[in-house]
Amino acid sequence: MCGIVGFTGVQQAAPILLEGLKKLEYRGYDSAGIAVMSDRSISVNKCKGRIARLCEKTGDGTDVKGTTGIGHTRWATHGAPTEENAHPHLSNDGRFAIVHNGIIENYLSLREELTADGYRFESETDTEVIVHLIEMYYRGDMRDALIRTTNRLSGSYALGVICTEEPGKIYAVREASPLIIGVGAGENYFASDVTALVSHTRNVIYLEDGEFAELSTDSIGVFDVLGHEINKKITRVMWDVQAAEKGGYEHFMLKEIIEQPAAVKATIAPRIRDGKVFFEELDMSYDDLRDIRKIVITACGSAYYAGCSGRYALERLCRIPVEIELASELRYNNPLIDEHTLLIVISQSGETADTIAAMRECKARGASTLAIVNVVGSTIAKLADHTIYTWAGPEIAVATTKGYTTQVAVLYMLSVYFSDLLGITEDEKPYVRALQELPRAIQQAIDMNPSVRPLAKKYHRSSALFFIGRNTDYAVALEGALKMKEISYLHAEAYAAGELKHGTIALIDEHQPVIALCCNPAIMEKTLSNIVEVKSRGAEVLALTFRNNHKILSVADDLLFIPDIDPVFSAVVEIVPLQLLAYYVAKENGCDIDKPKNLAKSVTVE
Ligand code: AGP
Repeated sequence: MCGIVGFTGVQQAAPILLEGLKKLEYRGYDSAGIAVMSDRSISVNKCKGRIARLCEKTGDGTDVKGTTGIGHTRWATHGAPTEENAHPHLSNDGRFAIVHNGIIENYLSLREELTADGYRFESETDTEVIVHLIEMYYRGDMRDALIRTTNRLSGSYALGVICTEEPGKIYAVREASPLIIGVGAGENYFASDVTALVSHTRNVIYLEDGEFAELSTDSIGVFDVLGHEINKKITRVMWDVQAAEKGGYEHFMLKEIIEQPAAVKATIAPRIRDGKVFFEELDMSYDDLRDIRKIVITACGSAYYAGCSGRYALERLCRIPVEIELASELRYNNPLIDEHTLLIVISQSGETADTIAAMRECKARGASTLAIVNVVGSTIAKLADHTIYTWAGPEIAVATTKGYTTQVAVLYMLSVYFSDLLGITEDEKPYVRALQELPRAIQQAIDMNPSVRPLAKKYHRSSALFFIGRNTDYAVALEGALKMKEISYLHAEAYAAGELKHGTIALIDEHQPVIALCCNPAIMEKTLSNIVEVKSRGAEVLALTFRNNHKILSVADDLLFIPDIDPVFSAVVEIVPLQLLAYYVAKENGCDIDKPKNLAKSVTVE
């Protein structure tokens, strides 16, 4: 996720663009840049790092002359966070500059075509193909060039474009990434969200997918994909800047829970081609995999629990033994790891000290390493032999949600990819279809639980909560319990349901509510008996299950639901009602949800 801004008016553009980018830094902050037009030439200033560095570089924009411009603050997905990869990107002839938020899924083939046509690429980004397409299609009519260009793109994009042949104009294009027009007096704007606009104007036009806008100082035209002008209503924004950063949600955590369908889609969709999973960033061969005798997954916290969930798919589809090791333990275990071990390292931040230390220990013992990280260019990404990025966008809340679900989604895709590479799965199409269904299933899990708020009111004063489950449900219970602990401060324990009778059931009574995960049909009867066991000792039971699971519905006191889904890929869906439950319990308890006490977003110390 990145932030883009555009301005055209009579004021100098650069200072306005920089101010707007500062308001969008929460959307991405590893590099930034502005392009400003003056006297039919475009000057581009960009740099690695935060907006503050760009401000230093341009005298807070005062060194850059021109009243028309575009700007970008980046969250890297394709290409490390460097000055070359920062936006805006210029066409070879210097007439066009572009900023982009989103992912172009077919950029590799477009890059090959454009390179063959003689276009020179300066960056590793997917975005750069767009500016060269515009140059290729431009014949004096920007709308026509933009329509032809976007007809070639697949993926998501919010675009900002300026052209030296069209002084005083800025262009905006929206497809599956938010883009809003700011309606000013003698000036007009666009931005990724209202945060960057409300200090200038509260009159906005929300572009829809497939719409283009042409803005000048005193006119706004909005067009559809056929170039036909369409009337758009002006909306009055009542949000304040802080609320706007959270997209109108009270907390980043809730915003990021709700973003999960899009985050998981952004992570999965570009990696499925012609009915197969395809990792362009992995150059592993059949022989490489055949030499692997075991997979070890190491991480900390929720990333570790993501590994616990992903292991079932890896073992079921790849038939390779998978061990899960806490990084803070692995590094001291004198681990049995050698050149026949594939170490999968999971980390949202890519900077967790224990995980880095464990990774170095295993590399020293000959393991090949595959990192699953969200931050492009992070330490773990650089250390790994292979890196797969989760394209979740920046995660601001300390408690991870979309970071976790996109990590698990990558593990699911890896299991299908490795299984195909090893020639184990006869027909992977059902698995690929199931992967493509996940974003919708996650959305359903969000929508089908209006009871989560009243349930949070009911359970928020519990002295402790037990999360129980078996197999894939137990792995999700681990993450569900951590979410509850770290944001609501309620003691919560995840327990393998089959283990209760070996001691812990001594704790169960009417004061210990039990949250039972029952989303795996193969072991449903067993978990049902555990529910009966704890109920007979007085516990109230909140069950998470399918709507048509009448046996569980008949014994549980309260219910949360998920749509029907194969348990091998269910963790990214099961966890959502539990994230929402933890969020609303924390809200009832008046906790600082985005910044829980004693916690940091990235634990870079041991
Ligand atoms: C998750 O909600 C926690 N904030 C924490 O457990 C986190 O998952 C852990 O510190 C690992 O962080 P990483 O993914 O950035 O390595």
